[in-house]
Amino acid sequence: MKPKVYITRKIPNEVFEYVSKYCQVRMWPEEDTPVPRHVLEKEIRDVEGIYCLLTESIDQDLMDKGENLKVISNMAVGYNNIDIDNATKKGIAVTNTPGVLTETTADLTFALLMATARRIVESELYLREGKWQTWSPMLLTGQDIHGATIGIIGLGRIGEALVRRAKGFNMKVIYHNRTPKPIVEKELGAEYRELDELLKESDYVCVMTPYTPETKNLISFEQFSLMKKNAILINTSRGGIVNENALFEALKSKKIWGAGLDVFEEEPLPVDHPLLTFPNVVVTPHIGSASINTRLKMAQLAAENLVGILNGEEVNYIVNK
Ligand code: DGY
Repeated sequence: MKPKVYITRKIPNEVFEYVSKYCQVRMWPEEDTPVPRHVLEKEIRDVEGIYCLLTESIDQDLMDKGENLKVISNMAVGYNNIDIDNATKKGIAVTNTPGVLTETTADLTFALLMATARRIVESELYLREGKWQTWSPMLLTGQDIHGATIGIIGLGRIGEALVRRAKGFNMKVIYHNRTPKPIVEKELGAEYRELDELLKESDYVCVMTPYTPETKNLISFEQFSLMKKNAILINTSRGGIVNENALFEALKSKKIWGAGLDVFEEEPLPVDHPLLTFPNVVVTPHIGSASINTRLKMAQLAAENLVGILNGEEVNYIVNK
C-alpha cells in the first residue's frame, strides 16, 4: 500500500508524476493561490507526508491534526514556517532544499544591489514616463559598486556565493557570522567583523542570515543609526530580520541611502505599504530562487526528500535530525 501524501500547491507535472510513483497523492490544484487553512487542516488528517511551501504555517495545531504524519517536506531552504521543536517532539522529520538554489539566490541578491545602487528602476520609469529631456551631469546619479565595501551578515552557502560575486566587482568584503570562518576568509578573502563594526564600515549591508528567534529584528533602529549615510540595505533572506518600521524611519530621515528588498514581514507586501513611497527602495516579490532551472530542482529535491523518508531511505536534508 502506497503512503498517502498531500501537496499544498500545484507542482510541475514531472515532479507530481515522480511522487505519484511512490505515494497516493492529493494536491491543492492552484498554482498562484495558497491552500486555505481549513482545507489543509482536513487534508492533513490521514496523510503520512506533507509537501509544503513557505506560505504554509505548519504549526503545533496543524501537526496535532496529522496523527500519521512522518515527514514535512518544505520546498525551500528556509523553514521558519514550520514549528521545528514540535515536529521533533512528535518524531516528524522536517526536510528542506539547500544547495540547489545557492547561486540563483546570490545572483538575485547582487542584481538587487546593483539595481538599487544605480537607480535602474527609477531610471526606467523616468524614461518611460517621458521625463528624459537631455543628458545632464548629475541626472539619476547613484552609488559606485566597484571598490565599495560590502558587509554580509550570515556567511552560509548563499553568503559565500555573494562574496564571489562581490570579489568579481573588486569590492572589499567583510562579514559577520555566528562563528567566524577562517578557512572561507582565506579562500575568498573576506574579513570577519563584529556586527556593529560591519554596520559602521559597509557601503552595502546584505542580510543573508536565516530567520530564527535570535535574528528577528536583528537590524532595527539602533543598527540603522550605526550605518553610513550612503549605505544601501539589501535583504533577500526573510522579512522579519529587518524591522520595517526602523527601515522606514532610516529612509525617511536619510540615515541610509536606499534599500533593495526581496522579502517582507508581511507577504504579499500590501501595495499601500509605506516602504513603497520611496523611489530609492527597489522591491521584488520574494523571487530570490526564481529561475526556471532552480525552481524545478527545488521541486524535485523536495519530492525526493518526501519519498525518501517514507521509503525509510537515508535522506541528507533533514533539518531536525
Ligand atoms: C527559500 O528557499 O527559503 C527561499 O526563500 C525561497 O527560495
